[in-house]
Amino acid sequence: MVQRKPFVGGNWKMNLLTADAVALARAVALTDDREARAVDIAVFPAFPYLGAVGSALGNAVQLGAQDCSGEKQGAFTGQVSAGMLRDIGCCAVLIGHSERRHGLGENDALLSRKVTRALESNLIPVLCVGETLAEREAGRANAVIDAQIRGSLAGHAETALSTLVIAYEPVWAIGTGRTATPEDAAAAHRAVRQTLSDMYSARFAEQTRVIYGGSVNAKNAADLFAREEIDGGLVGGASLVAADFAAIISAAASAS
Ligand code: PGA
Repeated sequence: MVQRKPFVGGNWKMNLLTADAVALARAVALTDDREARAVDIAVFPAFPYLGAVGSALGNAVQLGAQDCSGEKQGAFTGQVSAGMLRDIGCCAVLIGHSERRHGLGENDALLSRKVTRALESNLIPVLCVGETLAEREAGRANAVIDAQIRGSLAGHAETALSTLVIAYEPVWAIGTGRTATPEDAAAAHRAVRQTLSDMYSARFAEQTRVIYGGSVNAKNAADLFAREEIDGGLVGGASLVAADFAAIISAAASAS
């Protein structure tokens, strides 16, 4: 069986000003060495603070951005390119978070271009997928996940996607305090891998990390990460509290 290294990301969203962002980054940087070796840890601050947070993080924790443009460069006011993110020290980028898919109407064709830009700039693409409550209740969760993955990875070859991380984030669990059960999350992760296997190969599906997001916290992380299918988490609210994020990293390290 392939060993997948856990990945834990802190998605800070549109929170924290300089002083608090730097203080939180310093706290995350204090992660125990053994845990930092066992888990790929990344934080995703808002764009203006990437530089300051990056300086405060040290080496154990990766810097990530919450989005990148689908374009390479040029007349795109307000957008930030993957090349710029790499230039200021980012290693990873979130692509297609539900707050962008559903909140800002980003579609799969655009997300596929963002994946291209991320890969060109050697950024780990953390591709987010997940169904709404209505879709789940209609029994369409797996079909929605399948379509999102196929659309967002359209045109990408398996060989180019070796760093890909998929974040399964059911929309109804994000920021609601309503976490998917470990069983439901594991089932969704199997569906993700089935799609990757159908699109590419069983080997690729087995090697690709699939992490869970949606109200992960210090209490429920261990049960989620204990599932073999779940390779870590993308954490919103709880990543803003240093002690809670540390507990979630510990849970991932213990499960690895
Ligand atoms: P949450 O957010 O942990 O606050 O639910 C997760 C996410 O949006 O990535």
